Amino acid sequence: RTKVWLDCDPGRDDLVAILLALHLPSLELLGLSSVHGNATIEHMTYNAVRVLCSFATPEQIASTPVHKGAERPLLVRPKEGASVHGVDGLGGVEGLLDMSDPTVAAKQAEALKGNAILGLADACRGLQDGEQMTLIATGSLTNVALFAQVFPDLLVDKVARIVAMAGAEGRGNKSPVAESNVYCDPHAASIVFDAPVPVILCPLNLTHTALFTPTIHRQLLEGLPSHFPPTPPLTPTNGNSTLPRALTPLRHTLSTNLAFFAEAYKAKYGMEGPPLHDALAVAFVSHPELFKGKRYRVDVELSGTHSLGATVVDLWEYQKASLDPDESNWGRNGKNVLILESVDAAAFWR
Ligand code: BDR
Ligand code: CA
Repeated sequence: RTKVWLDCDPGRDDLVAILLALHLPSLELLGLSSVHGNATIEHMTYNAVRVLCSFATPEQIASTPVHKGAERPLLVRPKEGASVHGVDGLGGVEGLLDMSDPTVAAKQAEALKGNAILGLADACRGLQDGEQMTLIATGSLTNVALFAQVFPDLLVDKVARIVAMAGAEGRGNKSPVAESNVYCDPHAASIVFDAPVPVILCPLNLTHTALFTPTIHRQLLEGLPSHFPPTPPLTPTNGNSTLPRALTPLRHTLSTNLAFFAEAYKAKYGMEGPPLHDALAVAFVSHPELFKGKRYRVDVELSGTHSLGATVVDLWEYQKASLDPDESNWGRNGKNVLILESVDAAAFWR
């Protein structure tokens, strides 16, 4: 199994990313860390703990540390605020345990005492000789940048690659030209993109090709008989929601989570369904055969008057002459990232 660490800001799509990291059979989740982004660090940490404690086995809960991470970006002002995720990231999601549950309360207390960068360093040190992990980032890149700066040797020795939901080719969702995870901490993104290990980006152009449409929502509620035999309802799953009854508590939680996201995306972007951005980053790690991508030189706009946080992708290789032609090298001297450009969306939903 591929060992992964997930740094996230849950978040509607981060919730799905956490569940995939916990339950895809080819992955082993070593730990979770929170970062500012979709809402405050307190909310992000609590949400990560709630998702873990609600849908993991007792063994997984015990063996998966959660660490609170950076509460603000490196240099720019924090950008959190009412967003497509709601004020606290997961408001209105039904079926998640809360602080009245002793496991959540204990895990949350532990998480708040933690430190994302030190936690990640511990997880790296816990790997056997020759073993490596994949670091998945689905929020602002502040923790990952700090880790890369503070523990450069661990990064090179123990992190096989960084897979980040970040950036876009020529579009934005937090400004006309900037994707949210980069916009929230552009300097951190710039450090991470130039890290001396393989960096793989899951950008908006890709995530916008896999929308959670009303049809997919219906399939989530009803089950996809050809792929997932329906399971009988385990507990009453309808709560106070006006949504149709789902087959299982997990489906109900996903449905209430994504119904909110769908409404928000419709209102803000007029899209027929929300992209599950972060879930795609995890799916890439477990099912790379569903994706196609290409190496590029990508820089982050750090001083633009109108374009702070834009990812400047050298699609046509204007900089070719000055870049290291050896693509086995990663880092600041060459094509520094692999951008995922297409996915088999139907297979992803299955
Ligand atoms: C990214 O921004 C966040 O709001 C989402 O959770 C995702 O990680 C999409 O731009
Ligand atoms: Ca996120």
